Parts: sequence; C-alpha cells; structure tokens
Amino acid sequence: MRAAAFTELTGPDGVTIVERPTPEPGPGEAVVDVEACAINRHDLWILEGDSAMVEADDLPFVSGLDVAGEVRTVGAGVTGVEPGDGVVLCPNETCGTCRFCRDGPENLCESFSLHHGGLAEAACVEADRLVALPESVDTTTAAALPTAYMTAYRMLRLANVGPTDLVFVPGATGGVGVASVQLADVFGARTIGTSSSAAKLERVDSLGLDHAVQGTDPDSLRTAVGNVGTPDAVLNHLGGRYTELGLDVLRRGGRMIVCGRTADSRSEIDVPDLFLGHKRITGSTMGTQGDLRTLVELVAAGDLTPEIAGTYPLDGTRNAFAAMRNRESVGKLVVTN
Ligand SMILES: NC(=O)c1ccc[n+]([C@@H]2O[C@H](COP(=O)([O-])OP(=O)(O)OC[C@H]3O[C@@H](n4cnc5c(N)ncnc54)[C@H](OP(=O)(O)O)[C@@H]3O)[C@@H](O)[C@H]2O)c1
Ligand SMILES: [Zn+2]
Repeated sequence: MRAAAFTELTGPDGVTIVERPTPEPGPGEAVVDVEACAINRHDLWILEGDSAMVEADDLPFVSGLDVAGEVRTVGAGVTGVEPGDGVVLCPNETCGTCRFCRDGPENLCESFSLHHGGLAEAACVEADRLVALPESVDTTTAAALPTAYMTAYRMLRLANVGPTDLVFVPGATGGVGVASVQLADVFGARTIGTSSSAAKLERVDSLGLDHAVQGTDPDSLRTAVGNVGTPDAVLNHLGGRYTELGLDVLRRGGRMIVCGRTADSRSEIDVPDLFLGHKRITGSTMGTQGDLRTLVELVAAGDLTPEIAGTYPLDGTRNAFAAMRNRESVGKLVVTN
C-alpha cells in the first residue's frame, strides 16, 4: 500500500509517497481501508519539526489521526465491527486501567496519547476505537469530526455553554475554530469570531458566525468584541496574547477553555482580574469516544454539516499541508483515497 510519510521535518516538502506492506490485524485490531483522513495543525507541527513527539530518528513517520473508511479485516477476538462496515476512528489511545479510564472522562487518561498512521491507503487500529457510520454519513465528512469537532464539542461542554450565551472564538476560520462556531450554534449560543482575513470571515459568516471581527491587533480586537457584548465563554485554541485578550473581554464568572497554542505557547495573565472577576481558565485535550458518537449522530440528523475546505489525493498531501501553513482555507482539509 502507499502512505504519505514524513521523510524530513522541513515542512510540506518533507512529505513523500512511500510503499509499505499492507498491515495485518493482530488480536483486537482492525485494518481499515482509509477513504478519508483529515489533517490537523498537530500533524503540521510534526512535519515542521515543532513537536517533541517525532524526531529525525523516528523517520519516516506516517501521521494522520482522523481516519474514516471501510473495515477490510479484523483480528482475533474482535466482535464490534466486521469487514465492510463504514467507520470513523476515535484516535484516543488510553491505558484502560487508570482512574480516568475507569470513571471517565477517558481523555484525561494518565497515559493519554494519539493514534497516528491515517495518511495511507490502509490503517491498523484498535477495533474498539471504531465508531460505526450510518449510511447517510459519508467518510469525507466523518473524517472531519474526530480531532477538530470532538475537541470543540468538549470545550463547549466544559464551558457549560447554553442558549443565549455569547461565545468568543479567536481564530474562527480553521478546523477547531469553525467547529466551535458551528457547534456553539447547535448549543443555541451566539458567537463572535476573529480572523486576519475578511474573505475567510465571510465564509464563516455563512456557516453561522453571528459577529465577525477582522484583525490581529489585540487593542482593536478588544474594542470590537466589547462593542458586540461581554462573552460568557471563550474557546481559545491560539494561546499567546489571545489568552490575555480572552480574559480581558470575558464577563465576571465567565469561562475560558484553552486547547492550543498556535499563536504562542506562553501567555501573560492579569492575576487580579482573574480572581476579582471570578473568571475560570480550563485546559482541555480532545474529547471522549462518546462525544464522537454524538457528533456522528448530529451529522446523521442533519443538525451539523462539518465544513470541508478541500480534499486532496494521497499524493497531494503536501499541498494540503501547504494550504494549512499558508492559512488559505476555512474548515477542514481532508486527504482522500
Ligand atoms: N488539545 C487538543 O486536543 C487539540 C485538538 C485540536 C487542535 N488543537 C490545537 O488547536 C489549534 C488549532 O488547530 P487546527 O487544527 O484547528 O488548526 P488550523 O485549522 O490550522 O487553524 C487555523 C486558524 O488559526 C489561525 N491562525 C493560524 N496561525 C495563526 C497565528 N500565528 N496567529 C493567530 N492566529 C493564527 C487562523 O487564522 P486566520 O484566519 O487569521 O488565518 C485560523 O483561524 C492548534 O494549536 C492545535 O494544536 C488542540
Ligand atoms: Zn487511562
């Protein structure tokens, strides 16, 4: 089979199509014919050498978390899925025994990690991590869900977002950003989103964003958000100075959930504002497999249509990463076979 492997950690040009033996499933495993695999900034960081997870010694490395496709074969002891089933993978890897695996939520697992290997024609995965797809949910759409939508869904739940809440999403045009806007809408909330690009905001507007704020200067963003209202929640996947901005604009007792660091890994916060304003900051990573099942149901019911910015053939994977790096797109980029 072919795989789009990272052979150098130098950015999109470091992706090479390589031949690999088609995997055979071990006990408890399934091999999925990958029809679609979405890419995430997580993969781009690996490819740019900006992740401690993969180093030169680990190359070639096949990344790709968000696998959807058809089960090809299953290993011994597998009961939940069978060859021919349409599935999407929950890429969580958990120990199954720690207190969080026992009592939930599983994404807090003390040994939490992610399953890579989706940027290929076939992927060998833990069969228990496959979620069945109804006929009405195609695999390109399903591949958009695991990382971006599952993370955004969990953030909205952690922030207790409900009808009439105002949710601030700095960086509302990417995978997690668009997912946050669309899912906030599902929760009945209103949204304010930012981008450096007016054209990209127009697209997110058509996907349900209530208030678009174009710009990157924190002072003008602060003023523009203040003119709309006082957010009850901030979903922050950018980090850096967007954390300060988020805290600044948040209402008293409001919640900011942080899942990323695209702008910067370090933020300065105004500690008195935090405690005098009774504000809460919570970190969050991924979601639970139950969250992913809920998302598949939302799509099947017609309540959620994940935004696919573009699809790329496997041998165009480097172009997908270039589009992400160049901040060209709105929504998810999906590699299809
Ligand atoms: N903890 C978790 O479980 C988890 C899960 C998923 C994602 N994440 C994190 O969430 C973040 C977003 O991931 P993603 O896959 O959604 O990425 P993405 O699709 O590439 O996100 C693009 C968005 O980020 C903005 N952006 C890009 N570079 C920026 C910069 N230097 N300064 C300010 N804004 C910038 C873009 O704004 P413009 O419109 O202005 O271009 C756009 O809105 C990443 O940090 C990722 O690691 C974490
Ligand atoms: Zn565990």
